[in-house]
Amino acid sequence: MSEKLKIAIQKSGRLHESSLRLLKECGISFDNGNDHLKIQANNFPLEILFLRNSDIPQYVEDGVADIAIIGQNLIIEKDKKIEEIMKLGFSKCRLSLAVPKNMKYPGLTWFNGRKIATSYPNTLKKFLDKNNIRLEIHEISGSVEIAPNIGLADGICDLVSSGSTLFKNGLIEVEIILESEACLAAKTDVETKKKILLDKLIFRIKAVLTSRNNKYVLLNAPDKKLDAIKRIIPGIKSPTIMPLAEKGWSSVHSVINENDFWEIIDQLKENGAQGILIIPIEKMIV
Ligand code: PRP
Repeated sequence: MSEKLKIAIQKSGRLHESSLRLLKECGISFDNGNDHLKIQANNFPLEILFLRNSDIPQYVEDGVADIAIIGQNLIIEKDKKIEEIMKLGFSKCRLSLAVPKNMKYPGLTWFNGRKIATSYPNTLKKFLDKNNIRLEIHEISGSVEIAPNIGLADGICDLVSSGSTLFKNGLIEVEIILESEACLAAKTDVETKKKILLDKLIFRIKAVLTSRNNKYVLLNAPDKKLDAIKRIIPGIKSPTIMPLAEKGWSSVHSVINENDFWEIIDQLKENGAQGILIIPIEKMIV
């Protein structure tokens, strides 16, 4: 049987949908309609394993899966022989300490001698040791935010994304321990044959992520402003410039970064650009 790369992704949870979407945007087709825990891709030598989030680092270390899509927070917490290959730009969150919102919070020393509920005992302990705080860690595997309300703990250490779970439970975020997002991770010693497949997958993922961050821009500009416009939207190598039927005007095509979008549009307008069209890019290989 020919070699297959085995990727672990969340069976359920926040990363599940985005992970599947990423694989599909990489041109990998599969049928996951029947809640199977293991499926084969149709057009890429890839086996997809749907696993419980917290078990994934161990499965990758043991070689049950070669690679995984998981949160950076989980790699840090589990401390297994796996490494981050690339950040994936979704499921951004932070691991934070939170306390009841009516509590007077003077700073980290508040936590001395307290009881804190968390699903991240190792990361929390390292943070506390570094800051010379002594407290009791109460490890629970989910619904951490409810702990102070039911008298189980004085505060919590958990993932925060929008902050709505904290808000609903009358808690306020007081310290950020780490920032995290989804990443592609692999065991530290992926064998050579699989490394070739992994490199192919990484190439595709990079093309997808780059396209998500960039937009194709088309506009009409007066010829006398072309030098300024070329400087504003230099594109990958240089913009495409074609004369319009109307004398003294050109059509300019280029690529712009999503983050600079509004600033660039303002500058283009200041330089006489008209009829600006912004188009999503499906894949981008630079
Ligand atoms: C995570 C985390 C928080 C919540 C924070 O739980 O444990 O409970 O998200 O998100 P928010 O700031 O946007 O409200 P998740 O729903 O992923 O499930 P879990 O309890 O299994 O971790």
